[in-house]
Amino acid sequence: MPDTLKTVIDSDTLHRRVAELGAEITRCYQGKPLVAVCVLKGAFLFFADLVRHIQNDALELDFVRMASYGSGTSRGRQTIFSKDMEVDVAGKHVLLVEDIVDTGHSVEFLLEVLKKRGAESIRVCTAVDKHERREVDLAVDFAGFPLQKGFIVGYGMDYAEKYRELDAVYELVPE
Ligand code: IMP
Ligand code: MG
Repeated sequence: MPDTLKTVIDSDTLHRRVAELGAEITRCYQGKPLVAVCVLKGAFLFFADLVRHIQNDALELDFVRMASYGSGTSRGRQTIFSKDMEVDVAGKHVLLVEDIVDTGHSVEFLLEVLKKRGAESIRVCTAVDKHERREVDLAVDFAGFPLQKGFIVGYGMDYAEKYRELDAVYELVPE
């Protein structure tokens, strides 16, 4: 039986907000070089749209993908890069771009790595900031849409690798 999808953020609303975020980010890094890092796979569409709204003469783009392994709960799990960044971030301003911040563990891991590598500053941008299951006290600097709870798909986000290509955000309604 096909999954039931309920629209949470329609395409127009999504794209208007992404343009606003791009303008905010442009102002924040005026006159400063910036490395924007896309956290794969989920952020790929958001990142592609967002960077086209960032005006920065010295913008560099990079990609990272994480994998976690180990036993069940988030605390028992280890995070590694299945694809590491390629740009040297030492002394640079870095913007991490996520699809959704949920527990906060993946962003926390990335922040630690970037700090160790000597980034000059690190800020976090996410399309969706989901609060219900947050376990890490972290500051999201640029949040597209707050979400209290629910499992969402579309605009890069998947359920078992499905629905990433959809140009809107949907709640996956359990049967
Ligand atoms: P966190 O480490 O718990 O903050 O979440 C990391 C990742 O889990 C996100 O970047 C997403 O890829 C995935 N995720 C969390 N919530 C959702 C959801 O509602 N839909 C799809 N993926 C999600
Ligand atoms: Mg993600």
